[in-house]
Amino acid sequence: MRKIIIAIDGYSACGKSTTAKEVARILGYRYIDSGAMYRAVTHHFLERHVALTNPKEVARALGEVSVQFHLSAKGDNETFLNGLNVEKKIRKMRISEHVSPVSALREVRVAMVEQQRKMGKEKGIVMDGRDIGTVVFPEAELKLFLTADMLTRAFRRQKELLEKGDLVDLDTILENLTVRDTIDSTRAESPLRKADDALGLDTSHITIDEQVDEVVRLALSRIIRPRAGRP
Ligand code: CDP
Repeated sequence: MRKIIIAIDGYSACGKSTTAKEVARILGYRYIDSGAMYRAVTHHFLERHVALTNPKEVARALGEVSVQFHLSAKGDNETFLNGLNVEKKIRKMRISEHVSPVSALREVRVAMVEQQRKMGKEKGIVMDGRDIGTVVFPEAELKLFLTADMLTRAFRRQKELLEKGDLVDLDTILENLTVRDTIDSTRAESPLRKADDALGLDTSHITIDEQVDEVVRLALSRIIRPRAGRP
């Protein structure tokens, strides 16, 4: 069967990763969490105390970063930074609090986008993030843009963090999501926005299963029946 690229963009905690992961599993595709790459870079920059306003320091630190994904014994995608498993560390609030300014840097984006495009060369990939449909894979056969109301997103993120053993109060999460939404969608480099040909999906009142079913249905229709003008 012909393979496609599925790009899932949208705001934090709208269910992008959960949906992307499950859709990839059902289709036998590779799942790439592009946010994890920016989180890993942020982790490295914090460890090295990189001054974001110093281009030389940024370039040097960026040159030291190699991000990879490996499957755990349970079949989960885990993020490795320079050979070390940083999956747990990069999900912490400390990283969430610093990731958006790091991701707004042009040099960081250029380096990450290059790696992401390499990962999509063979197609058969589901990638989620902020600029996948607009910048990384503008030619993706299926593009989705997820939204959800702010309180739903904050509750979802709180539950997710709690499941990882992190108790964070709702106000802290609301503040972080709001700040990141603003930085991510107003930055000069690849701001978060819906691609013109992306399909919008409001996940506030639907379950993950419904979300996944809808995306798989759309994917299968694109795999079987390419859109006019597309190979
Ligand atoms: O999991 P959550 O939705 O909170 O965020 P994430 O997908 O892990 O992304 C973390 C941060 O990385 C975002 O707030 C963006 O600043 C940045 N990011 C980006 O700039 N471009 C992407 N393609 C993915 C993430």
